[in-house]
Amino acid sequence: MTAREVSGVRVGPADLPADGEMTPVQVGDREVLLARIGEDYFAVDNLCSHAEGWLDMGFLVPELCQVRCPLHEGRFDLRTGEATHEPATEPIAAFTVTVVDGGVFVGTEPR
Ligand code: FES
Repeated sequence: MTAREVSGVRVGPADLPADGEMTPVQVGDREVLLARIGEDYFAVDNLCSHAEGWLDMGFLVPELCQVRCPLHEGRFDLRTGEATHEPATEPIAAFTVTVVDGGVFVGTEPR
């Protein structure tokens, strides 16, 4: 697979999070949270499904591959968007991330 064959929005090197960090990125008309754990990247909606907390202001929980909301401590699985801790009960959208030829591409449609 080459970069030309990948669909999605390329995130430039300057916008990529370091290992153990996360950052908001614009993908079309959505703000997506891009997180990095080791060499793996994960992308989910940046807005919490409970009461619209901004997840990029929260905390990455790398050992669980989760993000914790800063407002009420709801948590989401970064691989699936599944809500894993109350008060969050509804999932958030998760997006495919593809790394090819040194480029990181975030899918524009939820998985
Ligand atoms: S807004 Fe995220 S848990 Fe309440």
